[in-house]
Formats: sequence, C-alpha cells, structure tokens
Amino acid sequence: MPSYLIVGASRGIGYAWLQYLSQDPANTVIGLARTPAPVEEQLAKDGIKNVHIIPGDMTSHAAMAKAAELAIPLLPSGLDHLIVNGAHFGNAAFFLGPTDFSSAAQSQALHDDMHQSLDTNVLGTVYSINAFLPLVLKGTAKKIVAITTGWADPDISRPADDGAEGLPFAMVYSAMKAALNMVIAKYAAELQSQGVITLALSPGVVNTSNNQPTPEDMGQMMKMFGVFRRYYPSFEGPTTPLASVEDQKKVIDGLTIADTGKFLSHHGNKEWL
Ligand SMILES: NC(=O)c1ccc[n+]([C@@H]2O[C@H](COP(=O)([O-])OP(=O)(O)OC[C@H]3O[C@@H](n4cnc5c(N)ncnc54)[C@H](OP(=O)(O)O)[C@@H]3O)[C@@H](O)[C@H]2O)c1
Repeated sequence: MPSYLIVGASRGIGYAWLQYLSQDPANTVIGLARTPAPVEEQLAKDGIKNVHIIPGDMTSHAAMAKAAELAIPLLPSGLDHLIVNGAHFGNAAFFLGPTDFSSAAQSQALHDDMHQSLDTNVLGTVYSINAFLPLVLKGTAKKIVAITTGWADPDISRPADDGAEGLPFAMVYSAMKAALNMVIAKYAAELQSQGVITLALSPGVVNTSNNQPTPEDMGQMMKMFGVFRRYYPSFEGPTTPLASVEDQKKVIDGLTIADTGKFLSHHGNKEWL
C-alpha cells in the first residue's frame, strides 16, 4: 500500500497529484495545505473521498512539525514518497531583469521577493523534509522529491553559444530554485547510506495560475515561448497539471539510489520542456 504526502496541495500541480494518486484505492494519499477547507470542498466536489488533508504552512518549522505529528496515525508503515510541491512565485516581478531593480523602491521589492522565495522554496523544503524524515525512514520506497523548475538550469537563461539571446526573466525564482537543487544534493549526500533517494524534479511548463499572464505581460510571455521554441521546436505551450503529474510519476517510479540528488525534468533527463 504505497503512501504519498504532497506539501502544497491546494491547487495547480499539487492538487493534480491528489487527483491522480487517489485514482488507485491502494494508495494512501495525504495533502498539506495552508487552508484545508477549500481543498476539502474541492475534493468533495470532485467526488474524491480517499485523500486526507492536513494543515501545513511550509514556511513554519513549527507548523511542519505539527503536520508530521498529525500524519503519524495515518502512516502506520511510514511514508514512501514525500513530494514537496509548494512554492512562492513572485509573479509581479517575473518578467523583470536584474537591472530593473536599480531604484531604492525596486531594490526593496527585490529584497522582499527574494526573502519570501527563500522562506518558501528553500527553507520551506528543508522544514518539510526534516519534519517528515522519520516517517520516510520508516517507509519502504524512501523517496523525497522537491518540485523545482528548468529555470534553475543556467543554460536556459544565458545567451546561446551561437549568440542568440537568453532570458533575463524570473531572476529570483530561478536563483532560489537553483538553491533548492543544491539543498536536495546535500540531503542525498547525507541520507544515501540510509537508502533515501532525493530528487529535484522539474514538472515542465504547466497550465496553472502561474501561466496566466496579465495583458501587459502577454508580449513577454510570447517572447519567452519563442526562446523556448529555439531549444524545443515542437513546444506548443503549457501542458495540463494531470499530464505533468503522469510524466513526473514515471520518473519517480524509475528512480534508484544511483539517481539520488539529481536535478531532472519530467522526461527524466535535462530536457525541460
Ligand atoms: N506551473 C508551471 O509551469 C511550473 C513550471 C516549473 C515548476 N513549477 C513548480 O511546480 C510546483 C507547483 O506549481 P504550480 O504551478 O502548481 O503553482 P500554483 O498553482 O501557484 O500552486 C502553488 C502551491 O503552493 C502552495 N504554497 C505556496 N506557499 C505555501 C506555503 N507557505 N505553505 C504551503 N503551501 C504553499 C499554494 O498553496 P496556497 O493555495 O495556500 O497558496 C499552492 O498549493 C512549484 O514548486 C513550482 O515552482 C511549476
């Protein structure tokens, strides 16, 4: 009876994980959400009865410790898969480049966005992993997956070797997810001897609230997709959360201890789209 716990499961890809995993009644599926009530309502609307929702804000060490305590009775055989999905995006600054933060006001906005991103995307992942590690060690699969992004690969941002333009956007998000990838490599180094497999997994470009640009940002979004197409000519636009989850699940199922600490895409390689 495999078990899965998704941190940040209220919507988007996290909620799709709940939908996808609950299709198999043999799975134990637990979702963590900052505000459980609307998620429970959505699950009821979708006719999903075999998912447990626990409150959990990943930026709080105490909240994650409490969430782990609440999960213990639901996981008598431990936790097989911990998937840390929740993230801070900072959509307002997404299409700015580094030099756009030159004024005092903008540098303060940069500071605030970067700290919020650090708290959620990096420290929040550490709090999540440390809180649930005893349950993971008690489980069979012992897999810890942090959802990252292809933006954390510097080769997506820098100009191409032939001089074609790069992508200056999403500096904070890219940098904090790159830090997350390093954190995952460090956990791999420490936990390999205990049979724990860690992975930083990029889900591809997925149609969630984060890919709904304002009319002002539409031009930048199209420019970004144009650069994506330079590397991936068949790219047609964002995929659905469920299709992404299906791809991610195949990668997670195929992991062995030799993969621990890697940064992979939903294709199981370095193809981010
Ligand atoms: N969509 C894409 O194209 C794409 C591409 C690459 C990587 N990703 C990664 O995929 C993951 C999911 O993205 P998404 O597009 O599904 O995002 P989304 O629709 O914006 O959902 C973000 C999720 O994170 C949760 N969250 C945020 N802060 C949290 C906190 N402090 N504690 C607990 N949960 C928190 C949100 O919960 P609330 O409802 O409480 O806010 C929500 O469930 C993220 O790690 C993201 O970086 C997405």
